[in-house]
Amino acid sequence: MDDKQRWDDVDNYLAGILVGEDEALDGALEASAKAGLPAISVSPLQGKFLNLLARLMGARRVLEIGSLGGYSAIWLARALPAAPEGKLISLEVEPRHAEVARANIAKAGLSGTAEVVVGAALDTLPRISKELGPASFDLTFIDADKPNNPAYFKWALELTRPGGAIVVDNVVRDGRVAEASSSDPMVVGTRQLFDAVAATPGVAATALQTVGAKGYDGFAIAIVPGNGAAA
Ligand SMILES: C[S@@+](CC[C@H](N)C(=O)[O-])C[C@H]1O[C@@H](n2cnc3c(N)ncnc32)[C@H](O)[C@@H]1O
Repeated sequence: MDDKQRWDDVDNYLAGILVGEDEALDGALEASAKAGLPAISVSPLQGKFLNLLARLMGARRVLEIGSLGGYSAIWLARALPAAPEGKLISLEVEPRHAEVARANIAKAGLSGTAEVVVGAALDTLPRISKELGPASFDLTFIDADKPNNPAYFKWALELTRPGGAIVVDNVVRDGRVAEASSSDPMVVGTRQLFDAVAATPGVAATALQTVGAKGYDGFAIAIVPGNGAAA
């Protein structure tokens, strides 16, 4: 048995026993595939991890950069209290993706909690910052175009409250993140992200390699400094 098959089998086993069938989430993946969206959402186990993290934090406000079909948005929005106390804002550049995400979020009964904002995130983030002000979110999930990760991290630092969390997906890239001489813009962006994390005083961060249905990758997590949060 090759490694990929083994990772798939373990993911299927664990998701079967820990996540199970879920009409809204399974339906979101089906609708996304039917609409021709790429199959690049987080896996069910990763989605549940994000949900548990948000619940552990008692998160009320979540920012997501990169909606696709709304799969991770549904996982995260489900962790929040009902609107208006709970709020998730998800940023998406592709109008077609946003349309599918909104429909999936509506089918999950989360339209009151989760809002999809269309536009390039580097255009919509300044607007959100102006509208809501700094430190408006408990948790920011970065999962969009990887070359912009350093810029998204900067925005996340501004928009996430001190002691809040920033999670960045796909930071290992089949191990290519270790290649200092890589010219792949995704790897370059990811390495610049880690440079920015390391250069930000007071940020406590780690990154974990993962294998599973989504192949060999990983995610980073950081705690926003301030308010006594220890680095
Ligand atoms: C990996 S997918 C997001 C997956 C989603 N978080 C999930 O797990 O269900 C990345 C998404 O980011 C969007 N994206 C790419 N560049 C963007 C940008 N500049 N601003 C906002 N969204 C962008 C893509 O269109 C795509 O839908």
